[in-house]
Amino acid sequence: MATAEQIKSLIRSYTSEDKERFLTIALQVAAHEAKQGHATLAHEIRDLVDKKLLDSRKALKVISFPQDLKNLVLTEAPNIPKSALIMETKMEQRIERVFHEYRQRGKLKSHGLDHRRKILLSGPPGTGKTLTAKVLAFELNLPLHIIQVDRLVTKFMGETSAKLRQIFDLIKQESGVYLFDEFDAIGSERTMDNDVGEMRRVLNAFLQFIEQDQSDSFIVAATNNPKLLDHALFRRFDDVLHYQEPQEEERKHLIENVLGRFIDSNFAWKRVLKNSDGLSHAEIAHACEDAIKVAVLSDHNKVKATQVLDSINHRHGAYLGR
Ligand SMILES: Nc1ncnc2c1ncn2[C@@H]1O[C@H](COP(=O)(O)OP(=O)(O)O)[C@@H](O)[C@H]1O
Ligand SMILES: [Mg+2]
Repeated sequence: MATAEQIKSLIRSYTSEDKERFLTIALQVAAHEAKQGHATLAHEIRDLVDKKLLDSRKALKVISFPQDLKNLVLTEAPNIPKSALIMETKMEQRIERVFHEYRQRGKLKSHGLDHRRKILLSGPPGTGKTLTAKVLAFELNLPLHIIQVDRLVTKFMGETSAKLRQIFDLIKQESGVYLFDEFDAIGSERTMDNDVGEMRRVLNAFLQFIEQDQSDSFIVAATNNPKLLDHALFRRFDDVLHYQEPQEEERKHLIENVLGRFIDSNFAWKRVLKNSDGLSHAEIAHACEDAIKVAVLSDHNKVKATQVLDSINHRHGAYLGR
C-alpha cells in the first residue's frame, strides 16, 4: 500500500489541480510497490499514468520547416514516457535535473539564471541517446525535431553554415527539443583533416550559434564517438552525459520492461543476465521482442528465458560476425 504521506500528497496535488505533480506521486507509489515486490501492481499503476500522460499530450503545434530543410529534419509528436528509458541511477538523476530546471525555469529566470538546455549526449550506439531526446520532449510536452546532421553536411556542402543558421532561427522562434543526431559529422576533428577548411568553418558557426542562443528550446547533440569531438564543443554545453552499455541491474529492469506480462514466473534470470553482458540496450530490447514474437506465433502467453537466450546468442553471433 501507498504510504500515508503519499496519500496526503496525492490529495493535495488533486485539490490544487497540479496534474503533473499528481502523476509524479502516482509513479512514486508505483516505485514503492515495486520495492515491496508487488511488480504487477507497480506495472498497472505505471500503465495508467503513462496512458493519462499520453492523452493529455495530443495536439502539439506543428511547425513547417523551409522546403529544402524538410527532408533533413524529422518532426515527431513524442510519445515515450521516462519509464521506458532505463539507465543507471546517477544518469537518471541528471536527466531529472534537466526536467526540474525546465519546470522551474520561471523561478530561475527571475534570478537571472537559465535552465540547463544545451546538452551533449555521447556513448555507443543503442544505449538510449535518441530515446532520451524523445523522452525529454514527451515529459516536457514539447515537439521533437531531429536534425540529421550527416545528411545536412553532405547535402549542403558549402552551404551548411547557412542551413544551420536557418535551423537556429527556428529554434529561437519555436520552442521544442532540437536533436542534432549523429553530430560527429560536424563535431569531429577527423572530418576536418579530410577537408579543406569547410568543416572547421561549419563547426565554428555551430559553436557560435549555440553560444548565442538564448531561446527556451532544448539543443541536444548526440554522438557515438566522443573521442572525435572537438574540445571547444564540450564547454558550450550545459551538461554532457556519457552513455554506456547497461550493467546487470539495468539489464534486468530493461528485460522486465520489454517482456512485461510475457515474463515467465520461473524466468532463469542468472543465465540471461550473464549472457547479455556487453550488449547494448537496443540489442537486448530487440532480443526480447524477438522472443515475444516466437511466443505469440506459437500461441504461448509467456516467454521462457531459453527463448531470450536464443535471441541473445543469435545477436552475439551477429555481433562477432559468426
Ligand atoms: N537506455 C535505454 N532504455 C531503454 N531502451 C533503450 C535504451 N537505449 C536503447 N533502447 C532501445 O533501443 C532503441 C534504439 O536506441 P537509441 O536511443 O536510438 O540509441 P542511440 O541513439 O544511443 O544509438 C530504442 O528505441 C529502445 O527501444
Ligand atoms: Mg541515435
